[in-house]
Amino acid sequence: MCGIVGYVGGRPCRDLLIAGLEKLEYRGYDSAGISLIVDGRIESVRAVGNLANLRAAVNQPNGNGAVAVAEAPSTVGLAHTRWATHGRVTEENAHPHGDCEDRIHIVLNGIVENHAELHRELEAEGHRFSSETDAEIVAHLIERHDEGDLTDAVRRAFNDLRGHYAFVAMHSDHPGQLVAARRECPLIVGLGEGETFVASAIPAFLAETRKVTLIENGEIVTLDSDGAAISDTDGQPIARETEEVTWDEDAAEKSGFPTFMLKEIHEQPDAVAETIADRVHDDDRVDLDELDLDEGFVSKLRRIVIVACGTSYHAGLVGRYAIEQWARIPVEMDIASEYRYRDPVVGEGDLVIGITQSGETADTLAAMRLARERGATVMGVTNIMGSQVTRDSDTVLYTRAGLEIGVAATKTFVSQVAAMYLFGLWLADVRGSLERAEIARLVGELKALPSKIDEVIDAGDERVRAIARTHYEQRFFLYLGRNIGLPVCLEGALKLKEISYIPTDAYAAGEMKHGPIALLDESTPVICVVTDSPVMEKMLSNVAEVRARGADVIGVATDGAEAAVSAVADQTIVVPRTDWVMQPIVAIVPLQLLAYHIARMNGLNVDQPRNLAKTVTVE
Ligand code: F6R
Repeated sequence: MCGIVGYVGGRPCRDLLIAGLEKLEYRGYDSAGISLIVDGRIESVRAVGNLANLRAAVNQPNGNGAVAVAEAPSTVGLAHTRWATHGRVTEENAHPHGDCEDRIHIVLNGIVENHAELHRELEAEGHRFSSETDAEIVAHLIERHDEGDLTDAVRRAFNDLRGHYAFVAMHSDHPGQLVAARRECPLIVGLGEGETFVASAIPAFLAETRKVTLIENGEIVTLDSDGAAISDTDGQPIARETEEVTWDEDAAEKSGFPTFMLKEIHEQPDAVAETIADRVHDDDRVDLDELDLDEGFVSKLRRIVIVACGTSYHAGLVGRYAIEQWARIPVEMDIASEYRYRDPVVGEGDLVIGITQSGETADTLAAMRLARERGATVMGVTNIMGSQVTRDSDTVLYTRAGLEIGVAATKTFVSQVAAMYLFGLWLADVRGSLERAEIARLVGELKALPSKIDEVIDAGDERVRAIARTHYEQRFFLYLGRNIGLPVCLEGALKLKEISYIPTDAYAAGEMKHGPIALLDESTPVICVVTDSPVMEKMLSNVAEVRARGADVIGVATDGAEAAVSAVADQTIVVPRTDWVMQPIVAIVPLQLLAYHIARMNGLNVDQPRNLAKTVTVE
């Protein structure tokens, strides 16, 4: 989740580019940089921290009495905000990255999956690298293919790459040109009068032009001051209409969505794709080399304890099912604020996992600290580099959801769940608890999740909106599920109560007859997660019990198994089929959307619900 801005035209562009980056700050970043072509050579500056640091750095003396990157006379350049994934947060790892001769500079968003193999090849050919990033590969690949035509060199480099990314390149020998390409990650061209912009999101240039051209997957685009020429990976030209953006500034910040929460729900496929990305090998194994966990320790692991709060706790519950199912290690799950006060029996040989998207939640940190003091090995799962949990843990597994602004956790939840799946499969591989072929099958399922989440957002939204319309005035909602469906219910119920202020309860369906069934009357909407799993039959009979009390059943069913659910439900939402352990990551999406639409229909501010803060740092 980084930001790209490029400019080619007639105006001095240094400050224009930095102003563009400011509009992308909401995406989150930990370093930034800019490169400009000046008198046939490239001037470049990078800085760790915020854009104020970059502004200060461009104005530093460069040793020749001039400033490092002058505003005039350059009229072509690239700028970038980086959220570290490969390599630490350092100036060297910040973008732009250059080739060996410093004639080609690039900025990149996303992940190059085959970077290790390309790095080896390029190094053997004599290329010298100056960063730990996967992105730098691209500058050297363009250099490798450079025969005088930048578009051609970019195309050939693009064809060597695997992964999901968008990048922009410039060459000091071609000062009137930028060349960009994309696979999966967004890239948009902005067309002005005698000037052209390229960026990862429209807000970066919206103050300058509202005319845009959208670049599609697998396309290369060559930009000059007169506009953009798009071609495919074989060099065939592609015609594309220009569109006019009508958003106001507030909508622009939210990429045209009415709220950050909805925007972040739509970013979930990307958040999961980024989290999985390079951690899944071509031979269909999970690679978590980044974890500092000794294989001997992992093989002898007695048990795992997961501690977390709120939504992160629900992601941990899903993780418990995945780890127990695949790696056959007992997993205890606890709410961090309870765990820390119950004098837990924990020590050497135990792995304690603290899940916290912010990395700063006081109760989770305290629970982890306690476990560590008692001799347990402690692993943090977080979205934020440099957060407290990264300093308090023996090892860290990062989710890569980008910055989440809406208070209600959505994309951070699915990326935490994806991280737990990765960890479960990695454990199963190290401990030999699953056959290789089964791991390969599950890895295939994991890789397909981003497009399935996309599918459920696209296909499900209208259906969910219609269901919300029939129920938004209800004063109570009950959620029922079993096994892997239970954390989905707990999370769905939390979403609805926190943004709509409607009381909700979520129950293990088998517990209904022990009391909660008394809550039901003819007006109660009951959301039942009945996805296809070993407990589906059991769940169907629970749904029939609920229906017999006259409650209004909304069933969440798996594609292909919806008939049985529709037979007992008043309304059914169908989600794509996945391996049954992975169903929570698709089944949660309609429940997030349901909460969202109900809250909006009640006229509420979903991005900033009352009494809640994004990070809970007090005990
Ligand atoms: C709910 C929500 C909270 C957080 C909880 C833990 O939408 O966002 O329940 O999940 O406060 O926060 P982290 O994960 O930052 O520790």
